[in-house]
Amino acid sequence: MRNLLGSFQKRWYSWRADPTKAKEEFSGKYWREEDEGVRSIPCRQCPKFDADREVCTVPFGTTLRKCIVASIESHFHSCKDLQVLEIGFGHFWLPRNLILRSGGTWTGIEPRQKTKAELGKGGHGQAGDIPFEDNTFDVIYGIQSLEHWAQGYKTVAKGYTYEDYLREVHRVLKPGGKVYFDVPIHDHGHEMFIMGDFDRIRGLFNPEGWTDVLLEKWREDHEPLPVQRPRPRKVKEWKSEIRSYAPEDVEKIRTAGIAYIMTITARKRT
Ligand SMILES: C[S@@+](CC[C@H](N)C(=O)[O-])C[C@H]1O[C@@H](n2cnc3c(N)ncnc32)[C@H](O)[C@@H]1O
Repeated sequence: MRNLLGSFQKRWYSWRADPTKAKEEFSGKYWREEDEGVRSIPCRQCPKFDADREVCTVPFGTTLRKCIVASIESHFHSCKDLQVLEIGFGHFWLPRNLILRSGGTWTGIEPRQKTKAELGKGGHGQAGDIPFEDNTFDVIYGIQSLEHWAQGYKTVAKGYTYEDYLREVHRVLKPGGKVYFDVPIHDHGHEMFIMGDFDRIRGLFNPEGWTDVLLEKWREDHEPLPVQRPRPRKVKEWKSEIRSYAPEDVEKIRTAGIAYIMTITARKRT
């Protein structure tokens, strides 16, 4: 029953997506600069936080999904005249609706779709082999998708590395075009995201082809909201994902790690 209500609220919220409101909401400085190329968005500073009631006002979703919603609204409210590609769109329409309503063109590829991919529509495709011409898109993004690309989903062709994926994304992006990916840290997906390995995540973007790599951490600084630890249900999957890290480091993260959302943005060099 709760799931059904959550699913209804998610659809309702996405259907009502309003880029003007999102732009207004996220017009101030809601982040804190950390190291070079790293920002933190503390819950306290997030426009979705209601300080009087001490709650996040996103009305649906898990703790981390609420941050995904906030981050999408902060990044996708102004897409006028942009050609935008979503990789791995699943069934979440909030970003698509913001893009369309702010004047952009949305195209999506998803390995589970059967229909042929076409500009301006959603269709079949995957990150290793994007069915569009070179230099087609101004923006390419994935919501909770990048961390799964190499996991060998049944519907996804095997044998690609992250280097292959990023080369393909780079190919179809226009010079100066931007990527946006959000991923969970200390939760699930490829081991570099489970371990929160910033160097490796940054290393996805070869400096010869990419610039302005920025990592944003949403909800790592969660006060006064409760901490989100790695979820036991997800920790069970870690064994099959983690190959390159020492067991004591993994254990530290399992017991004391704070799960949060990272957004990764970067620009294709001109
Ligand atoms: C956790 S779901 C997220 C779906 C949706 N973006 C959302 O936020 O609800 C991950 C999605 O990534 C897609 N995916 C996995 N591997 C992929 C790949 N190599 N290329 C493109 N999409 C992929 C899956 O089919 C799935 O739809």
